[in-house]
Amino acid sequence: MSKYVRPPFNYTGGKFKLLEDLFRCFPKNINTLYDVFGGGFSVGVNAEALKVVYNEQLAPVAGCIEYMYNTPTQQFIDEVLAVCDRYNLKDGGEASYLYMRSKYRVEDADHALFFALLSHSFNSLVRFNSEGGFNAHYGGVHNTLRASRIETLRTFMDKLHSIKLQVLCGSFIDVPVADVESNFVYCDPPYLITKCDYNSGWRFANEYALYHWLDTLNNRGVKFGVSNVLRSSGRYNHILAEWSRKYQVHKFNMNYTNSSPVRKNRHERDEEVFVCNY
Ligand SMILES: C[S@@+](CC[C@H](N)C(=O)[O-])C[C@H]1O[C@@H](n2cnc3c(N)ncnc32)[C@H](O)[C@@H]1O
Repeated sequence: MSKYVRPPFNYTGGKFKLLEDLFRCFPKNINTLYDVFGGGFSVGVNAEALKVVYNEQLAPVAGCIEYMYNTPTQQFIDEVLAVCDRYNLKDGGEASYLYMRSKYRVEDADHALFFALLSHSFNSLVRFNSEGGFNAHYGGVHNTLRASRIETLRTFMDKLHSIKLQVLCGSFIDVPVADVESNFVYCDPPYLITKCDYNSGWRFANEYALYHWLDTLNNRGVKFGVSNVLRSSGRYNHILAEWSRKYQVHKFNMNYTNSSPVRKNRHERDEEVFVCNY
């Protein structure tokens, strides 16, 4: 059994399975940890730090994390179960899921509805159309809110309540990092060379902007670490390779077979790296 709490989001590209390796590379005695591309929050919630700043660009995900932090565990579980009852998800199957999906609007910030949707969507995908509607497909009878998933949610929320947390929603570039030597900025950006839903908006310009931002932090004396893949499915990230030469590069071997169904060789291993400036 893992000593880390599993996030309830089943986030594609989430770092849960890599935590042991990752934390070995983190600096010791972190004051504030900035989890700048927070996603499912597997890193920040499990890291050792006096305070954690979670940032995420997707408002429903950041909003849900913040709501969970400010809400008693059992209350949120009851709210999610009430949504499932209201839309008859237990018996209604796909039709009920699609009806519930049609009722979801990002601007309503209905976090229990969002969580209920995720818990029944295909691969628990977080996916929106351009009008802000949730558009992940139905996950089938095997992807439902089972007792084990509720337990995962409970354990995650209990852990969440035990940390000192600030939630931000926006782009990494706007995260206000304080120049304190014992602070640490962790980045787990969308990967330029792999395929997954939230990667589609991440382009060369974002990649360059991130490395420029990290260089700026470095010049200010702030410690940072960034996860990424150098090589995946025959593709190579030359921008990362070039930029990382001036820093320390730790290599991990991760198999992301789940996150890339179109991969030619499903057993090929990605070359996962952690680049840091200390
Ligand atoms: C690889 S995932 C992070 C996974 C996370 N570390 C975990 O373990 O669950 C990358 C995240 O960055 C978010 N993102 C994309 N562009 C962003 C930006 N410009 N600023 C902040 N977050 C962004 C995506 O929505 C996605 O949730």
